[in-house]
Amino acid sequence: MGIETSCDETGIAVVADGTRILANEVASQIAVHAPFGGVVPEIASRKHTECIYQLTERALETADVQIDAIAATCGPGLMGSLLVGVNFAKALAFAWNKPFVPVHHIEGHLFSVFLDHEDVDWPFLALIVSGGHTLLAQCDHPHEYRLLGTTRDDAVGECFDKVARLLDLPYPGGPAIQSLAPAGDPAAIRFPRGMSDSGDLDFSYSGLKTAVLYATREGTHCQADLAASFQAAAIDILLIKTQQAIQQSGAKRLVVAGGVAANALLRDRLNAEIDIPVHIPPLSLCLDNGAMIAAAGDSRLRHDLTGDLGTTPTPNWPLTAVSAPNR
Ligand code: KG4
Ligand code: ZN
Repeated sequence: MGIETSCDETGIAVVADGTRILANEVASQIAVHAPFGGVVPEIASRKHTECIYQLTERALETADVQIDAIAATCGPGLMGSLLVGVNFAKALAFAWNKPFVPVHHIEGHLFSVFLDHEDVDWPFLALIVSGGHTLLAQCDHPHEYRLLGTTRDDAVGECFDKVARLLDLPYPGGPAIQSLAPAGDPAAIRFPRGMSDSGDLDFSYSGLKTAVLYATREGTHCQADLAASFQAAAIDILLIKTQQAIQQSGAKRLVVAGGVAANALLRDRLNAEIDIPVHIPPLSLCLDNGAMIAAAGDSRLRHDLTGDLGTTPTPNWPLTAVSAPNR
């Protein structure tokens, strides 16, 4: 069983062999946070508490199998939200006398490609793009990752959300910008491609966000042109850095995951322009869910990376230390 409560989605899933989804219940809090233009941490943890029990009952009923182990996201994420899932998982582990498995949220996104999907062989290069993270990692073996580059400021999903707010579009910004963009001209405004010539594999999205702010203040561009030109720049940066990472690392395959991997322009450009095999989860598994946590948990269980009732959430757990969660 996989339990995800790191941010604003409560996800409970049952997965067999780390690959076959038997049940996957997700309760999104988007409607609750939308009026605030972003996630309110205190409200998020309360909402997880309200729905986690019913979601678990539904997932167990649908899957109708014996549970071997309970995995939960231990970090990174919002402390209050993580606590709800981790404590719930530890209580189940104690009651059922089964192992409790702490999972790193980004590792969960990585493992979403193994779900109901073609075989993906290790090693691979990973591009993780979400609301909290933008990173490139060399993934040599399960639970052994090297960080090649990460964002120096905003994550790409966070940038979509902030730009959407500038354009008076609803939260979350990614889907809102994606649906407005086709009505605009992506070449109308040439926004900066932050750090594309920096020589390293780090990202920066704050300059792009500021450039959009100035362009909106000029008042000469329509919303659709702003959305299309912003999306073109944001996705271009991901393609540029990924190409550089492939050249530098000599990677033979690429895995792309996280909420922004749902973006249609990114998916189209990856498939058209990257000349090594690209694995992207189906749309339904790009956003936070319990199935990806169960998949990563299954592998951690097989590698003896379990926790115990003393394991606590680690809101800033680094991806490179996946085998050593806080005790
Ligand atoms: O992985 P995720 O569900 O949560 C985190 O771990 O952060 O990602 C959520 C992020 C949000 O910033 C949202 O705006 C973005 O993913 N997102 C998108 C799209 N769908 C979701 N960004 C661009 N295009 C999309 N279609
Ligand atoms: Zn996520």
